[in-house]
Amino acid sequence: MSDDVPTNQPTVTLPGGVALPLLGLGTWQATGEDAYRAVRVALEAGYRHIDTAAAYGNEAQVGRALADSGLPREEVFVTTKLRPSDADRAPQAINDSLAKLGLDYVDLWLIHWPIEGQASPPTWQHLRDARDAGLTRAIGVSNYSLDQLDELADASGEIPSVNQIPWGPTRNDPTLLAGHQARGVVLEGYSPLRNADLDSPVLKEIAEAHGVTPAQVALRWHIDHGVVVIPKSTREERIRANGDLFGFALSADELARVDALDQP
Ligand SMILES: NC(=O)c1ccc[n+]([C@@H]2O[C@H](COP(=O)([O-])OP(=O)(O)OC[C@H]3O[C@@H](n4cnc5c(N)ncnc54)[C@H](OP(=O)(O)O)[C@@H]3O)[C@@H](O)[C@H]2O)c1
Repeated sequence: MSDDVPTNQPTVTLPGGVALPLLGLGTWQATGEDAYRAVRVALEAGYRHIDTAAAYGNEAQVGRALADSGLPREEVFVTTKLRPSDADRAPQAINDSLAKLGLDYVDLWLIHWPIEGQASPPTWQHLRDARDAGLTRAIGVSNYSLDQLDELADASGEIPSVNQIPWGPTRNDPTLLAGHQARGVVLEGYSPLRNADLDSPVLKEIAEAHGVTPAQVALRWHIDHGVVVIPKSTREERIRANGDLFGFALSADELARVDALDQP
């Protein structure tokens, strides 16, 4: 594997022609200078997608790293999320996020989780308004069920483009993935490494065959399923390795073996 990650990252296209890179850097629990450095390293290593949230308390550091990277704004896909406690003041909340990020727009704005457990069509309407006002290019949700996605679609005529949910080799639900695909909703997996057993003999064996690590196999498995993957690290060597996924691919047999890791 080379140390250089190609910057023409594979993408999935959202409504409106928005290209979402399948690989992103997660930033939950990355704070202060650690968050700044992680984003700088990731962008140097070829990542072109950063996942943050108002609730992570690091939008200012993410924004500063983006600015200092010198990359043109349009080359980096930036996601942030609406804190459910801000649902009633969503129009102000997106402006607060943009001010912290130092951006005129984000690429994707998500409802971080259901509002008091509910889909909340009024909140979804706030996201649609923000998109129509040019403050975000695409909109979606996180931690929603398929029924809740349908509820938003029924209420507004527009289904979220993305649902960000926990995913990984030990948290793999093909029926749930198919449900998203049938609705045209892109599944973004979160906590891909927390939802993997890096000591699994299956991951180790496949890793050895490709000359990569079990973590890289777990991450590549998402890409090969068309699932967006956003691993988090604040350690330079891990950020680089987690992003170095494009020099190999899993065969159909290898994919099936990783799929089977979640079966009892
Ligand atoms: N929407 C939501 O509700 C939600 C919830 C959770 C997460 N997320 C998003 O998804 C992102 C990823 O999820 P996550 O942060 O929960 O977990 P993750 O990316 O699965 O795992 C991160 C943990 O694994 C470690 N790690 C990273 N690379 C590694 C490697 N190559 N080998 C071994 N350990 C490694 C990290 O430690 P070091 O930093 O020390 O390397 C960290 O402790 C988040 O950062 C966030 O952006 C969203």
